Amino acid sequence: MTLRELQMQGKVHLTQAGIEDSAFEAVCLLEAAAGLTRSQCLSRAAEQALPSVETQFFSKIARRISGEPLQYILGKWSFYGRDFLVGEGVLIPRPETEELVEQAVSVLQKHPRSVVFDLCAGSGCIGLTVAKEVPACTVYLFEKYDAAFAFLQKNAEALQVPNAHILQSDILTDAPPKGVYADLLLSNPPYIPKSALADLQKEVCREPHTALDGGADGLCFYRAIRQKWLPFVKKSGMLLFECGDGQGRSIADLFQPAAQTAVLYDFQNIDRFVQIIV
Ligand SMILES: C[S@@+](CC[C@H](N)C(=O)[O-])C[C@H]1O[C@@H](n2cnc3c(N)ncnc32)[C@H](O)[C@@H]1O
Repeated sequence: MTLRELQMQGKVHLTQAGIEDSAFEAVCLLEAAAGLTRSQCLSRAAEQALPSVETQFFSKIARRISGEPLQYILGKWSFYGRDFLVGEGVLIPRPETEELVEQAVSVLQKHPRSVVFDLCAGSGCIGLTVAKEVPACTVYLFEKYDAAFAFLQKNAEALQVPNAHILQSDILTDAPPKGVYADLLLSNPPYIPKSALADLQKEVCREPHTALDGGADGLCFYRAIRQKWLPFVKKSGMLLFECGDGQGRSIADLFQPAAQTAVLYDFQNIDRFVQIIV
């Protein structure tokens, strides 16, 4: 079979399984199976595929049809123009989180020597990107779970980020290293209310529950940050959170009346970010 025929067959299988963006996903999986770039797949479309490429391709298609997220099968995903390694046990970086990073970078460009915390760091997409974009700042990334922490370590190594410090730490019980205070605290913590976890899309259910479960009302981590981490944010410092649809005002209220708060909207016009100045 030629590469083009493989891609077309993959697309048909994915479409039949109800996968929406089947053409895009088929080409991503072909690239991964053949070890080719997108443009090589196009320019060599008429070439016969090696039997090993064919086997690998259909094995990846079968994994995708079984509900495994595309990003886990590819083993990496692009975030803010850089590839992050991802797989079982770590949350896949989302496009709306790029907006949080954009806001953070714009704050840091005015204060480039800042100390930044990234709580619940997962793959490190937030903290490592900020550290790369603003090399004069110092970023501390905190992640509790072994599987996610392993990806964080690999991403920190792959991206070579000397101004990032990664720490395996439970943010519900631990504190930052002694004497370290943040100018900017960033966090995209687990925020799905426990009762909503069962209704998530099949692919999202394959991501770790520990990355999603925000307790009874989804706000458990924001309360803990208010109580345990706010004392480690410098006067006039900022906290910038990502949150779920409809949670923005409640999170801002947790920090009232001491702080100045703003709820910000994402590209889909969802109240997705909360900014707090202390
Ligand atoms: C919503 S994910 C966000 C990951 C990453 N920051 C991102 O934006 O893609 C939340 C992360 O918090 C981590 N986490 C959950 N409970 C934690 C805790 N008590 N302390 C530290 N990290 C925790 C999870 O393992 C997961 O990686």
